Amino acid sequence: MSNVSLPPRTAAVIPAAGRGLRLGPGAPKALRTLNGTPMLVHAVRAMAASNAVSLVVVVAPPDDTPAVRTLLTDLALPDRTDVVVVPGGANRQESVRLGLEALPGDVSIVLVHDAARPLVPVDTVDAVIDAVRDGARAVVPALPLADTVKEVEPREGAEKGEPEPVVATPERARLRAVQTPQGFDRETLVRAHAATGGSDGDGATDCAGLVERLGGPVVVVPGHEEAFKVTRPLDLVLAEAVLARRRANDGF
Ligand code: CTP
Ligand code: MG
Repeated sequence: MSNVSLPPRTAAVIPAAGRGLRLGPGAPKALRTLNGTPMLVHAVRAMAASNAVSLVVVVAPPDDTPAVRTLLTDLALPDRTDVVVVPGGANRQESVRLGLEALPGDVSIVLVHDAARPLVPVDTVDAVIDAVRDGARAVVPALPLADTVKEVEPREGAEKGEPEPVVATPERARLRAVQTPQGFDRETLVRAHAATGGSDGDGATDCAGLVERLGGPVVVVPGHEEAFKVTRPLDLVLAEAVLARRRANDGF
């Protein structure tokens, strides 16, 4: 344990405590299945697939914490990987903070990965870890946008069709859609969460944003199409199609 040549210990925190309201009625999103396997199980396996990850902290829906513990205890994972389950909070930021509190002292690199991104490839996970190991304090996988994006003045009745005035059109080539896992030097992330204090409103949707608020440098590395977030019903169809393609390609 005192071997100084060991690489810094890396843990993944998986916020999985959301309801998944945009997915429609049903179980909490992380427990919905993709080809018969809960999304959370796919996400845990995706983190454990990296040789660098030796601990996964799952932040579960509070009411389902015992069920999640049972689910993950029965899971076959590499010997190097421990799993800890803690109950989550009212928004993502709060859930991540609760996950960070469960980290043992020897962890120095932290990934934060949405349970709702169950299919992220291991190469993306490793690329994020490598960038942190190389000295970046906050690393975000991201992709260029397909759609042009407009900033609007949000209106209450927008969902019912009330037009919203356009304020600006940012230059698309300068925009990136960010994914997870986001990787951090542990101290930087803990400091960013502490500085934000209690959760305001919905809390931050992105950990790197908290580091930016502190003025800390955040860098982007290439993300992956398959790291998309399962948010709406159509995303379930896409995720199951990706799994079917993987199975056909490599028998997984
Ligand atoms: N999350 C969490 N705790 C919360 C809210 C969200 O751990 N109180 C997690 C979700 O479980 C998800 C990730 O944050 O893995 C990204 O959030 P999102 O995709 O918005 O999921 P939900 O909040 O569950 O979905 P919705 O916003 O549609 O209700
Ligand atoms: Mg949400």
